[in-house]
Amino acid sequence: MNADEIARRFGTPAYVYDLTEVRAACRALRDTLPRPHRLYYSLKANPHPVVAGTLAGQGCHAEVSSTGELAAALAAGFPPEHLLMTGPGKTGADIAGALAAGVRRFSAESAADLDRIETAARAAAVTTECLLRINADQPVPGMGLAMTGTASQFGTDLSAVLAAPERFRGRVTGLHLYMGTNIADEDTLLRQYEQSITIAAALGFELSELDLGGGFGAPYSVPGDRYAFPGLRSRLSALLDQHLAGWRHGRPGVSFESGRYLTGTCGRLITRVVDVKTSKGKTYAVLDSGVHHLGGMAGLRRLPRLQPRPHVGTGGDAQPYTLVGPLCTPLDTWAQGVTLPGLAAGDLLEIPNVGAYGLTASLLAFLGHPAPVEVVLDDGEPVHVSRLALHRTEVPVTTPTPTIPAGNNNKTNNNDKTKEYAR
Ligand SMILES: Cc1ncc(COP(=O)(O)O)c(C=O)c1O
Repeated sequence: MNADEIARRFGTPAYVYDLTEVRAACRALRDTLPRPHRLYYSLKANPHPVVAGTLAGQGCHAEVSSTGELAAALAAGFPPEHLLMTGPGKTGADIAGALAAGVRRFSAESAADLDRIETAARAAAVTTECLLRINADQPVPGMGLAMTGTASQFGTDLSAVLAAPERFRGRVTGLHLYMGTNIADEDTLLRQYEQSITIAAALGFELSELDLGGGFGAPYSVPGDRYAFPGLRSRLSALLDQHLAGWRHGRPGVSFESGRYLTGTCGRLITRVVDVKTSKGKTYAVLDSGVHHLGGMAGLRRLPRLQPRPHVGTGGDAQPYTLVGPLCTPLDTWAQGVTLPGLAAGDLLEIPNVGAYGLTASLLAFLGHPAPVEVVLDDGEPVHVSRLALHRTEVPVTTPTPTIPAGNNNKTNNNDKTKEYAR
């Protein structure tokens, strides 16, 4: 369905996700990876229930890093035994909740995180599989947004593990190495996997799983096709053969994670021009969508290099536009100096390739505009149409808060309250 039809039937702004593309991306990625492998879908990219459910249907497992993503994954149809819970700030309550939901596999980000997982598992009388997340000692050359190999809140420094391997040996069943995101070229991908595989081999722990992360790039908010990594499978298989001979028989099982590659190219955002005006020599197109719907991670240097496609209604002489949204802040600027055919109020623009890190990576709550409608297409036809809504739930003022650490309330001599929390 083109932008005009979507806008007429469902209004704007509208996110549109194409399930045919989700399946194709999944097939393409799996064809790129060494076999056998396990592929986790990272729900942070797009937790939409039908999109995530489609990937569950393709045999993906799921990587979740919050109680919300855990609930979304279960609701989308991932069985709990297919979930990996990750994240540097898992509380004891988060872990206990995941265990109660049937999750058994965790990434441990530090020795304390590992202790917390083990304590919660003992309390629940269950056995878990813990992958120790490692922060390599060197960054991978060519990596854009490095998440490890430098000082980081993610993982445990390799040097710390090497200094005291007995703290972890026998307690962890696997390793987790997620080095970075949105890598567009095969050589950089391979360099990071080589580093990870070498680390795993050097540690010499008995491993049932080696999670090599991912980092598979995808075009973001600009036109373009899925990237191809044609030599990755054979080159990576050779590396695994060289360093971890048992991997083909699951010793260790090799796994990967991807959000962006699996869903980035399935989505587009359709927005309408509300106003066009000139101020001090600059022409502004004011849209009905902005950083509350796309690009809210701009503060994290993640504002996409946005390149919208003009749609129906446009036709005047091309000129540069500053594209802004409806929020009352100059931060709500998607792009400056984008050359587009003459725009008028009512025209439609389409932002391609925003199926990952779109709506839920934005500032949805700021200013209280309604969320865009989300339209899911399968075989070109709408199969699911919905709109996210934030709502406030009241928390009784007397509710005990189990996560408050014991002793914290004594400082102000409010012993009565301490008793209340302890109940
Ligand atoms: C641990 C971990 N796994 C997976 C992902 C998903 O990355 P991507 O969407 O680039 O595939 C991220 C993203 O930051 C991550 O931190």
